[in-house]
Amino acid sequence: MSANLPHGNPLVNRVVEGQKRDALLAQAASLVSIPVNAWTISDLDLIGVGAFSPLTGFMNEEDYLSVVNNMRLANGAIWSIPITLSVTEDQAATLSVGQQAVLTGENDGIPYAVISIDSIYKVNKRHEAVRIFKTDDMEHPGVVKLFDRPDTYIGGSIQVLNRPVPEKFNEFYFDPSDTRRIFAEKGWKTVVGFQTRNPVHRAHEYIQKAAMEIVDGLFLNPLVGETKSDDVPANVRMKSYLALLENYYPQDRAFLGVFPAAMRYAGPREAIFHALVRKNYGCTHFIVGRDHAGVGDYYGTYEAQDLLKTFAVEELGITPLYFEHSFYCTKCGNMASSKTCPHDKEHHLTLSGTKVRALLRDGICPPPEFSRPEVAAILIEGMAEASKTYAI
Ligand code: ADX
Repeated sequence: MSANLPHGNPLVNRVVEGQKRDALLAQAASLVSIPVNAWTISDLDLIGVGAFSPLTGFMNEEDYLSVVNNMRLANGAIWSIPITLSVTEDQAATLSVGQQAVLTGENDGIPYAVISIDSIYKVNKRHEAVRIFKTDDMEHPGVVKLFDRPDTYIGGSIQVLNRPVPEKFNEFYFDPSDTRRIFAEKGWKTVVGFQTRNPVHRAHEYIQKAAMEIVDGLFLNPLVGETKSDDVPANVRMKSYLALLENYYPQDRAFLGVFPAAMRYAGPREAIFHALVRKNYGCTHFIVGRDHAGVGDYYGTYEAQDLLKTFAVEELGITPLYFEHSFYCTKCGNMASSKTCPHDKEHHLTLSGTKVRALLRDGICPPPEFSRPEVAAILIEGMAEASKTYAI
C-alpha cells in the first residue's frame, strides 16, 4: 500500500506571509518585472502550495533536460512534465543568473511571485514536443501552445506573494495541506483521486464507483485550469459535478475539489504527472482509464497505463488503478468493460463526442445509460447559454 507521503517528502510551501511578505513586496517594487499569463500564474501557485512537490520553482536547465530526456528530475525523482517559465529574448537580455525578478500578471499587474534566477537557457522546442507529446504536429493542442512560447526559459525557486483569486466556485479550491487534513478528519486512510477535464458521464461514474468499492473515499478532482476551447468550460462542469454528487454519490464518501492546473494533453506523460500531483493532495490511489489525458488519435488507448506500469508503485508512491474502456451493455443491463462483459459490440452503447455534442446542441438528452439526466440537463443549459459550441 502507498505511504501517502508527498512526492520527495516533505510538502513544499513557497507562499510567504506576514512580515516576510511585506518585506519581499517592498523589495519586489525595485526588481525587474516579468509579465506572466494565466497558465504561468496557475503553475506558480501550484508550486507555491506544494501541489507540484518537490518542485520549489520553475525548472532550471539541468532539471528540464533530465525531465525531457529521462522522465526524472536531476536528483532522480520521477517527474514527467516540464514546469517552465519562458521569456522573450528582449526580456532575457535584462536578466542574469543570481538576480531576482518579480513575476507580474500580464493583465492585472499583480506581483504574484519573486523568482531567484539560477538558470537562463535556450531550448529545442521540437525536441521537447517529440519527447513530451510524442509528436511535433501543430494540430496537437499541447504542441501549438509550446510553439507559441518563446524558446528562452528561466529557472529558479520562487516565493509566492499573491495568490490568484478564483472567479467562481471558491469553496472548491483546496491546497494539498487542506485536502490532507480533510481526508484525515474524515478518517479516510485510502483515497482514490480522479482527474477529469470533462463532465462525468456514466463510464466515469462506473470506474469511480468500482474504485470506491476498495478505498475509503473518492477525491473528485476536475482540472479547471486552461483547456482547449472546445472542451466544456469549467463553470458548466462544476454545476454538473454538484448535481451528480448530490443525486448519485454517498455524501460522506466523495469529496469535490478542483485542480487549478492547465491541461497539457500529453497523454501518457501527463498521466504520470497527474498521479504524482494527486499523491501530493493526499491520495493513495489514482484512476487511469482509457486514453488518459489524450487528444485525437495521438496516443494508444492504454498507452498511459503502459507507461505508468514501467515505474514501480513503491517509487511512484501512489497506486494507479487501471480501468479498461467502459460502456453500457444492453444485454448485461449494466455498465461493463471487456473484462466483465461477454457480448458483442452491437450490444454496447458507445456514443462519439460528436454525436453527444449534436444531441445536446439540439436540446436532446443522451440516453440515461450514457449520461445521468441531471448532468445532461445542465450541459444542455450550458450549451444554450454559450455562443460557441462545446465538445462534450
Ligand atoms: S482526461 O483528459 O482528463 O483524462 P477524461 O475526463 O475523459 O479525460 O477522463 C477522465 C478519466 O476517465 C481518465 O482516467 C480516463 O482515462 C478515464 N475514462 C474516460 N472515459 C472512459 C471510458 N469510457 N472507460 C474507461 N475510462 C475512461
